[in-house]
Amino acid sequence: MQPAKHEHWSSGFTFLLAAVGSAVGLGNIWRFPYVVAENGGGAFVLIYLAIVFVFGIPLLMSELMIGRSSQKPPLSAIQTFGRGSRAKKLWNALGWSYLLVPLGILTFYSVVAGWTLDYAFGMSIGTFNNLEDGASASMFQDLLQSPIKLVFWMTLSIGITVGIVARGLKSGLEQTVKILMPALFVILIILVLYASITGDFAKSFAFMFEPDFSKITPELVLMAAGQAFFSLSLGSGAIMVYGSYLTRDISIPKMAVGVALADSGVALLAGFAIFPIVFAFGVDHSAGPGLVFVTLPIVFNDMGGIGQIFGVLFFLLLAFAAVTSTISLLEPMVAQLSEEGTFKRARAAIYSGAVLWVVGVFVALSNNILSDVHPLGFLPLFEGKTIEGVIEFLSANVFMLLNGLLVSVFVGWSIKRTVTLEEMGLGDSVLFKIWFMLVRFVVPLGVGFIFYDVVL
Ligand code: PFF
Repeated sequence: MQPAKHEHWSSGFTFLLAAVGSAVGLGNIWRFPYVVAENGGGAFVLIYLAIVFVFGIPLLMSELMIGRSSQKPPLSAIQTFGRGSRAKKLWNALGWSYLLVPLGILTFYSVVAGWTLDYAFGMSIGTFNNLEDGASASMFQDLLQSPIKLVFWMTLSIGITVGIVARGLKSGLEQTVKILMPALFVILIILVLYASITGDFAKSFAFMFEPDFSKITPELVLMAAGQAFFSLSLGSGAIMVYGSYLTRDISIPKMAVGVALADSGVALLAGFAIFPIVFAFGVDHSAGPGLVFVTLPIVFNDMGGIGQIFGVLFFLLLAFAAVTSTISLLEPMVAQLSEEGTFKRARAAIYSGAVLWVVGVFVALSNNILSDVHPLGFLPLFEGKTIEGVIEFLSANVFMLLNGLLVSVFVGWSIKRTVTLEEMGLGDSVLFKIWFMLVRFVVPLGVGFIFYDVVL
């Protein structure tokens, strides 16, 4: 059978919509606000933004370059570049890691995406109206404790993702982001406007932008780096595979800066949609992962009738953000199987989705029936971690960072400078030299240090 044809984005703008769609996700709207709240506000935001600029943009450029220059999915792309190198085996392993990490992330991401579908549905049928005290927390617990609900919503989330990816780049991914991304921005702006009119905007502004430097600790820097990698979809194949659909006339540095700015902008806007109302209603703002799923329903309920509308909008926003990310997480494997293997795209999507579903069921059940199973509990690093905990730690902490570290060494030291020079399209300018220096020295050392601290 003929391998599938390698498609291209219709334009730089559609690429940007898709790449921003990948970057903007649960990480921005669900995770960023509570991580900021747990880590003391402004100081965290400042370090986060610094990491996005110093590590994030150079790595985005590197991953886009590997994808575009090779015009191949991640595993083959890295293998192609690594072929002549002495460290060929290492680069082979890196390619595999770029292929498998997104699937690992997708197992737990699909479960949380399922929560957003459950909440969007629940909000729209009025499940959260007239909440009694404490009801919101127990409803969230009920969801986590229900194997059937978790698996049902996760299955729907995976089904939607497979359905979109199966249709291919132009009719699947592009069409989806063209509709969902503008909708996402409109909903976000409505929510921010509403929150800033009715909520405590001044307090939120101070909370997010007035850094208390005494709060900066090594742990805070680690949290910020992890959040930045996850939020920018780095080290996980999504950006690389999207880069492989770029044509040569599109500027990689411009696209990388665009993705980083839009992603950070949306994370900050999500903060401005959530904190003003959380502060105004005097509810606990450091509620951890429950901030969005426990605290916000209380706030929407207190708003009366209009609250239900904003509640539906908010959880739709989360669901849209999730879908535009899950498709980018499934795409590396599907592209690899269909372009370099012998599967038709639709089949590749269904098979990958099936494997994902099986692992996803274990992940979902590790919230309830399997909560006492600690697969690698005999190792100190994994002590007390559930199946979900192990997969999340390995994919989102260990291998994402390791991939980022190795890919910078790969681009900075293994790929010929003439190739990178040509791909960046910046000439031998100061900008190019800064990027090259960051990729050769600053990123590997910085990420290496962070990795050492997290893992070793
Ligand atoms: N960037 C996404 C978010 O912030 O929710 C998550 C993600 C998507 C991570 C795609 C990695 C990836 F390849």
